[in-house]
Amino acid sequence: MCGITGYIGEKEAAPVLLQALKRMEYRGYDSAGISTIYKDNVTIKKDIGRIDSINEKIELGKAEGKIGVAHTRWATHGGVTKENAHPHLSCKQKVVMVHNGIIENYRQLFKELSDNHEIKSETDSEVIAHLIEEEYDKEKNPLKTLQNVSKKLDGSFALVVIFSDKKDEIYGVRKYAPLIVGIGEQENFISSDIVSFIDYTDNVIFLEDKEIVKVTSNSIEIVNFDGDKISRDKTHVAWEAADVSKEEFSHHTIKEIHEQSSTVQNALNQDDEEFEEFVNKLTSGKNIFITGSGSSFHIALIFRKMLTKFVDSPVQAFLSSESEEYIESMNDNAILIPISQSGETADLLEVIRNVKDKGVTVLSIYNTVGSSLSRVSDFSLNLNCGPEIGVAATKSFTSQLAIVYKIIFKLGNVKDGNEKIIELSNKIKDILSKEKTLQEIIELINESNDVYFLGRAIHHPIALEGALKLKELAYIHAEGMAAGEIKHGTLALVEEGTPAIIINPKDESYNDTINNATEMKARGAKIIGISSEDNEVYDYWIEIPKVENMLYPLIELVPLQLLAYYTAIRRKNNPDYPRNLAKSVTVK
Ligand code: G6P
Repeated sequence: MCGITGYIGEKEAAPVLLQALKRMEYRGYDSAGISTIYKDNVTIKKDIGRIDSINEKIELGKAEGKIGVAHTRWATHGGVTKENAHPHLSCKQKVVMVHNGIIENYRQLFKELSDNHEIKSETDSEVIAHLIEEEYDKEKNPLKTLQNVSKKLDGSFALVVIFSDKKDEIYGVRKYAPLIVGIGEQENFISSDIVSFIDYTDNVIFLEDKEIVKVTSNSIEIVNFDGDKISRDKTHVAWEAADVSKEEFSHHTIKEIHEQSSTVQNALNQDDEEFEEFVNKLTSGKNIFITGSGSSFHIALIFRKMLTKFVDSPVQAFLSSESEEYIESMNDNAILIPISQSGETADLLEVIRNVKDKGVTVLSIYNTVGSSLSRVSDFSLNLNCGPEIGVAATKSFTSQLAIVYKIIFKLGNVKDGNEKIIELSNKIKDILSKEKTLQEIIELINESNDVYFLGRAIHHPIALEGALKLKELAYIHAEGMAAGEIKHGTLALVEEGTPAIIINPKDESYNDTINNATEMKARGAKIIGISSEDNEVYDYWIEIPKVENMLYPLIELVPLQLLAYYTAIRRKNNPDYPRNLAKSVTVK
């Protein structure tokens, strides 16, 4: 969570940093701030609220200086207050700093520092600025100072730091939170995410954990926490700046929903050899574990259901935040498949750290180029769906699904698999073109406090995903359920008019699910059927085209995304930045 960035170069830093913050707002958006240094003056501008509204109030982009740091926050320790917003400044104004992550021993550090330092915020971050200042007073050398400090901090941290008496240098520190250097012409950037500086450069250096970087406007020097010099080649990332704009759409989320007809095709573009190697490794394991969080976990569930039919080994899917017993049962015969859009989800990366020493092979599926996940995996497949800015996963979900299909087709020796997905992508377009027909259902959902999503077999994870979208975007309580389970509790909650969304294309589970829908209807529920075939039990029918049974999940989800998005709009919520959430969850 939180986006951090720094700039040094020939331009005025504040406008560059302001734009970077807007690009990274998906990482956290309860407060933000910028600090620049000009002559001997440190300027700090920060406040609570969304970046645009802070900017209107205190003109974030108007601080003087060609060096600066900036931060957009998702609160963990300490409430949403101006004092808790970053950047944080040390007492003697020698150090200005931004932090992403969690410092686990901050209370202890607070006790040690509070006699000599005035610590103003309730955050776990501010102590770092004071600790750096104290250490700098002794060491006088920024790199040595940051090495010492890094060893005293427990937890996860990415830092961007400026020493006010070194106005031509900016420093980055990375341990278990992303940090990337952008290499420009007579200017350089340090940031949590490439999208923040993609307008200026697409040449980057990815820092690894336990590394510190010293950046001037024309040099980059990396050392590890022991001070050993590290040489690292730059990487060219081929992302167009246009990919992060909203184009003609009013929100990133709806743009990304519409992009799906092409992004599911892009997911198929895998290097043949690498793909082959990935699948061979996958089938060589004696035990297969799939993990993810949020939407990516729902893909793990679908993948497990499909994969068990094609491999002899047992396949298990687990939430990355609930990993203990799965980790215990992994040995060097195991294959771990972590799935993640951002490639930075802390719970997921922790699972990998915990199993790497056991010789487990890690085969990942990820989207963000250069993410931590891509670098700690033995083999990986990229979603190729471009940056996803809307906080709720949409196009990344269907791209993950497209890769799952590609793997299953390969295992099932299906020769025309790619063609099948390309055909499906046209059907996605058809569904998207009918979005206006959902109006009446949106009104029903808008007036409800609870909505139930029901599905059996491969439709169950889609029911979970549909409910998650509605919660995230519309702030309506929603529950995704295995349809057969309603009689074990949920029926007690059904009242006159309660919406029940039944994900039920015409396949083997159709009749059983219709029975469950009938049971709901008998208690007063309004039934919304998402199906290739109408049924008298449906009060509303959202028609989806007929396709091969296993392919339904890819198209049945699209109307659910639209329902969540348009209900959010109806309620005047900002679907791109749902309250209290962040896209990249880099804390446990
Ligand atoms: C956050 C996002 C979700 C996402 C989840 C997992 O909660 O808001 O949309 O599904 O993280 O993210 P990942 O990047 O690991 O797929």
